[in-house]
Amino acid sequence: MTSQVLASFAVAVLGFALTLGYGAVAQRNAADDNEELAKGYVPAALKLGQLRSTQATIATLVDGIPDERNPLSTRLVLETLVSVRRAKIAETRAAFTPDLASVGGARTHVLAAQLTVELDVIDAELADDKRGIERLFSALDDADKDGVNRQLAAVAMVEHEADRKVRALSDRVASSMDDLSARSRLRERRALVALLGLAALTLSLGLFVSLRTRRLLAPLARVTARARAVARGDLTPHQVEASDNEIGQLARAFETMVGSVAQARDRAVANERFAAIGKMAAHVTHEIRNPLSSIGLNIEMLDEELGQAGAPAESRALLTAITREVERLEHLSEEYLRVARLPSPRMEAEDLAGLVTDVVAFARPEADRQNCRLQLDVETPLPPVLFDEAQIRQALLNLLRNAREAMPDGGIIRVRVAGDGMAVRVDVEDQGGGIPEEIRARVFDPFFSTKGEGTGLGLAITRQILEAHGGAIDCETGIDKGPDGAPRGTRFRITLPLAPARSW
Ligand SMILES: Nc1ncnc2c1ncn2[C@@H]1O[C@H](COP(=O)(O)OP(=O)(O)O)[C@@H](O)[C@H]1O
Ligand SMILES: [Mg+2]
Repeated sequence: MTSQVLASFAVAVLGFALTLGYGAVAQRNAADDNEELAKGYVPAALKLGQLRSTQATIATLVDGIPDERNPLSTRLVLETLVSVRRAKIAETRAAFTPDLASVGGARTHVLAAQLTVELDVIDAELADDKRGIERLFSALDDADKDGVNRQLAAVAMVEHEADRKVRALSDRVASSMDDLSARSRLRERRALVALLGLAALTLSLGLFVSLRTRRLLAPLARVTARARAVARGDLTPHQVEASDNEIGQLARAFETMVGSVAQARDRAVANERFAAIGKMAAHVTHEIRNPLSSIGLNIEMLDEELGQAGAPAESRALLTAITREVERLEHLSEEYLRVARLPSPRMEAEDLAGLVTDVVAFARPEADRQNCRLQLDVETPLPPVLFDEAQIRQALLNLLRNAREAMPDGGIIRVRVAGDGMAVRVDVEDQGGGIPEEIRARVFDPFFSTKGEGTGLGLAITRQILEAHGGAIDCETGIDKGPDGAPRGTRFRITLPLAPARSW
C-alpha cells in the first residue's frame, strides 16, 4: 500500500512538473520569438526602409531632370544621394548578414541568405550607376538632346528597377515579420491552451490521489477505534476483515496481540484463582484430614466388634455406607491437597512414551473392573520431552479416570502417543456420551462438574500442569459414532514441546 500511495503521489508530482516544464518551455519560445524580432527583423526592416526611401528619392530626382531649370544643382544632390545609398546598402547588408542570420531558426537563416544575395544583385546592377549619371550630365552640358534622352532613359530604367527590387525586398521582410508574429501568437495561444489543459489534468490528478489516499487510509481509523476500545478493556476477540495491505496486516497483527493479551490475562486470573483455591484447600484439608483418619480407625474397630457380636446385617450395611462416605471425603481432601501442593514442575528430559505405558499399566486393573478396555498405541521412536514425571502422571490419571467415568457401562479407552512437529502429543479417547456444546467451554474451570460426586478439579489441575510445562490441552467431542449412529466419544489431547537438543 505504501507503494500505491507513493506511486499516486509520484504521478501527481510528475503531472505538476510536466505543467511547470511545459510553461517554462513556452515562455522560452516566446522570448526567442521576441528576440528574433527585436534583434533581427526590426533593425533589418529599419535599414531597408532607409535604403528604400533613398532609392525612391533618387528615382524621383532622375525622373524630374528633364523639367529642371537648373540641372546642375540636381546633379550635386543626386551624386550625394548615390554615395549615401552605397552606405545604406552596406548597412542593410550588415543587418541581413550577420545580424539577421545570427538570430532565430532555420527559416530566418534562409531568408537572411536570400535577402543578402538579392541585395548583392541590386548592388551589382547599381555599380555602373555613377558613370551613367556622369554621362547624362555631360550630355546635358553639351546640350546634346539625343544623348540626353538616351542617357536619361538608361539611368531611369536602372533606378526604377532598383527601386522596384528594394521595395520587393522590403515587402518580403515585412511579410516575414507578419508571419513570424502570427506564428508566435499562434504558438502562444496553443501553449496557453495546453497549459490550461495540463493544469486541469494535474488538479484532477491531485484530487484523485488525495481521495484515493483517504480511501486507502480509512481502515486505519477502524484500527484506531479498536485500539481505543481495547484501551478501555474490551478484549473480546474480533473478526478482522481487512485487505492484504500494510493496514490489513497491522489490523491482523493488532488483533493477534489483543488475543495474546486476553489469553495472558485469563491465565493470570486462573492462576490467581488457583492459588487462592490452593490456600483454602490446604487450610480445610488440614482441619479435615486428622478427624477423618480417626473416624476411619474407629470404623475399623466398630466393624470388628460388630463382627464378633454377630450384629444384624442392617447395622453392617450402615457401617459400609459410612465407610464409603469417609473414603469419598478422603478422596476429596486428597484432590484439594493436590491443588494446594501443585508446585512448579521439576523438568527432566525423559521418554514420555515410557511414562504413558506405565500409567496405562497402573490404571488397567481399575478399568478392567468397570469393563473398560485400555488400548495403548505408541509411535516409536519418539524424541525426548522435558516434563515433571509426577505431574504428568497426575494429568494422565485424571484424563483416564474421566474417560472411565464417561463410560459407566464399559467400552474402549484408546491412548495414543505420537510425534507432532516440534511436540509430542498424547490422545485419550473414550466412547462415552461426549460433552454437550453448552458446557464445553467450562469443563476446565475449577469446581465445574456434572458428576454428583465430582470435585470439578481434575481438568483444572490437568490444564494448570500442562500450561506450567509450556504445553497445552484441548478436547474434541463426538469423534466416534455409536451403534445407533449418534455421535459419541471424547478425545482429550495433551501436547508437550520437545526438549531442546542440548538437554538429552
Ligand atoms: N471424557 C469425558 N467425557 C465426557 N465429559 C467429560 C469427560 N471428561 C470430563 N468431562 C466433563 O468435564 C467435567 C469436569 O471434569 P473434571 O474437571 O475432571 O471434574 P470431575 O471429574 O470431578 O467432574 C466433568 O464433570 C464432565 O462433565
Ligand atoms: Mg475428573
